[in-house]
Amino acid sequence: MQIENAVVLVTGANGGIGAEFVTALHQAGAARIYACARKLESLSRLVAADPERIVPLSLDITDQLSIQAAVSQCQDVNLLINNAGVLLNYQGCIAVPNLDDARTEMEINYFGTLAMCRAFASILKANGGGAIINILSILARVPIPMTGSYSASKAAELSMTQTVRAELAAQGTQVIAVMPGTVDTDMAKDYPPPKVSPAEVAKASLQAVIDGIEEVYPGEQATQMAAQIVDNLKAVEKQFAQMLPST
Ligand SMILES: NC(=O)c1ccc[n+]([C@@H]2O[C@H](COP(=O)([O-])OP(=O)(O)OC[C@H]3O[C@@H](n4cnc5c(N)ncnc54)[C@H](OP(=O)(O)O)[C@@H]3O)[C@@H](O)[C@H]2O)c1
Repeated sequence: MQIENAVVLVTGANGGIGAEFVTALHQAGAARIYACARKLESLSRLVAADPERIVPLSLDITDQLSIQAAVSQCQDVNLLINNAGVLLNYQGCIAVPNLDDARTEMEINYFGTLAMCRAFASILKANGGGAIINILSILARVPIPMTGSYSASKAAELSMTQTVRAELAAQGTQVIAVMPGTVDTDMAKDYPPPKVSPAEVAKASLQAVIDGIEEVYPGEQATQMAAQIVDNLKAVEKQFAQMLPST
């Protein structure tokens, strides 16, 4: 599939990686980009670049009515980019006082993304198959205990992505899992380097659509971790096990 002339929906388009997706898609000649955010006003700078091709849309991926409204308006989509996500809990799974943030992470990262895949599957089919990009995390492969509930939500999202890939193969929909390490956005502002740029994440993800690649590890950190996981998953688990919540 080519990006030129594609019709694309990007969730969380006002965020660090989402905004870079919109810019990269615009530069690559996408015909229309539905830039989605919970707050429309947060998209004004992005849309100002080209209001003809960048269409702002209000979308909360945990709200079925909001998703249905997007489905009604975006019948021409052939590339769905599920980028929206949250990291809320830094206190592990046992030390954390309650499960509120863990539930919200699962609600947005897993159920929200799943709801979007379900809502747009038939649209993608009608438009020739197309592709879905799910923005996961290297933590989908192995958890960091401090952000254990986020890691679990991304692991669930990876498993779901593999299932959606299998279910949509017959209709010709490519389903891509993108698993970066630390990305230089608001979400990781308190994290130490190295950080891959959000522009590099967007570029590698779109290249995967063109090249037909199913798993993408953008940046050196994620590439190295992916190789270590293949080499010795247990050793990576033990290494990450040192990153406990502070008490
Ligand atoms: N930054 C990293 O180190 C890193 C690493 C690996 C993977 N990721 C993943 O990359 C994706 C993008 O994150 P980012 O780094 O760009 O962080 P970000 O700047 O905080 O962006 C997150 C985006 O998700 C949106 N969002 C949250 N809940 C939503 C909901 N219920 N409905 C619709 N949109 C919602 C946010 O919108 P609001 O402005 O309305 O909150 C925001 O646009 C996430 O899935 C994240 O897990 C990030």
